[in-house]
Amino acid sequence: MSTTQAPKGTYDLLPDDSAERDEIVVAAVRVFEAYGYRHIVTPEFEDTALFERGVGEATDIVRKEMYTFPDKGGRLLTLRPEGTAPVCRAYIEHGMHKWPQPVKLWYHAPMFRYERPQAGRYREHYQIGAESIGSAEPAVDAEVVALLGRILGELGLDRVRLVINSMGDRTCRPAYGELLRDYLRAHDDELCEDCRVRIELNPLRTFDCKEEGCRAVTAQAPRLIDYLCADCREHFEAVLGLLRAVGLEPEIDASLVRGLDYYTRTTFEFQSLALESAQNAVGGGGRYDGLIEQLGGRPTPGCGFGSGLERIALARRRTAAAGPRTPVYVVSFADEARGEAFALAQLLRGEGMPGAELDLAGRSVKGQFKQAARLGARLAVLVGLEELGEGEVRVRDLAGGAERDCRVAQLPALVGELLGGGAAGGAPIGGAEGPAGEAS
Ligand code: HAM
Repeated sequence: MSTTQAPKGTYDLLPDDSAERDEIVVAAVRVFEAYGYRHIVTPEFEDTALFERGVGEATDIVRKEMYTFPDKGGRLLTLRPEGTAPVCRAYIEHGMHKWPQPVKLWYHAPMFRYERPQAGRYREHYQIGAESIGSAEPAVDAEVVALLGRILGELGLDRVRLVINSMGDRTCRPAYGELLRDYLRAHDDELCEDCRVRIELNPLRTFDCKEEGCRAVTAQAPRLIDYLCADCREHFEAVLGLLRAVGLEPEIDASLVRGLDYYTRTTFEFQSLALESAQNAVGGGGRYDGLIEQLGGRPTPGCGFGSGLERIALARRRTAAAGPRTPVYVVSFADEARGEAFALAQLLRGEGMPGAELDLAGRSVKGQFKQAARLGARLAVLVGLEELGEGEVRVRDLAGGAERDCRVAQLPALVGELLGGGAAGGAPIGGAEGPAGEAS
């Protein structure tokens, strides 16, 4: 066995990728805080029983995917495969029912699942997630969906669709479960071995199966959404209404049961059209009104989501939504101007500034432009040009080549204006107002 490679299904995050990852997390944290969510950190491992009881013994996660080990004291522990059960455990353990409800928490943490590794599916992956615990109101579900939608939107992820379903509750689901069981038993010769076991354990889990035969059977199965009780239907309609009111248009997908047993009522996913369909969910979640009670707490409703950072990053790269790491590169045209370049980069790295790079390797002018291109910079700030007056600099749009001169004091405002509409947008130099400098 080689010791010079990371274990299968894991990866190292090298600086280019970690910078991109940090950018995603920083954007998400800003949105979490704007929505009133606060940070929670739970341990990397928990008692195995937490996940067995919380996630469900019929799920693939518990049956096949957990990293479980006895510690030296003989306790059975599991590396966290998902974030909801630990947060609910913490809610109970710390008496958070005494806090103002709902308690709104966010996390950013690695998750461990023994899955078949492929693009967008890892054995250690990172999630950002949120849990809103203590209220059954449809506004909570809508807020959670809108929150993830806003994060993905701020990250420039387009070509994303939102799918939603209702899983019913303890009033309507048992009767539906029996109906589904009867249907599946009548087709059990068309099902894989796993699904035949699922019929008795939890028939809804057959909807997760990727086998073609099983998919054909579940496609014709009775749909839970047609058997919702009046309260669940009303709740679902209210969630849809709130989402539409904020411009989100969810598609109803009656087969969206998701891979965890704790869901009741709302389930949802944001799926990226830029990713392969087997792992196109950039985030998903739903309501889990029975989970806290199942874990030994008093009956407490909750709703949340988890979103995979690797998938967000992959989808962003494929849709070219990722901005350049540093959008501005300061180019010195003369050695005497290197001090000025250093000071300007410092200025552009201040609070509220876009950030800037400059040459730290004694490159020629041509070499500096090459480096700016390698870094994906959009603008170059040129200093030390003979034709510029004292205290003046020139800003060049590296894509179009158009240029504008300004005084150093005006540089932050000009750069801000040119980078304006986010990584992909911004006012072009020589845009609607006409060119202010000559093109080169
Ligand atoms: P999940 O759907 O299992 O839900 O995972 C959430 C997200 O994590 C997925 O939508 C996907 O983006 C990402 N993900 C899952 N597994 C992998 C993997 N092996 N490799 C890469 N990315 C992955 C949960 O974990 C629930 N705890 C979400 C939740 C929170 N529901 C309510 N509250």
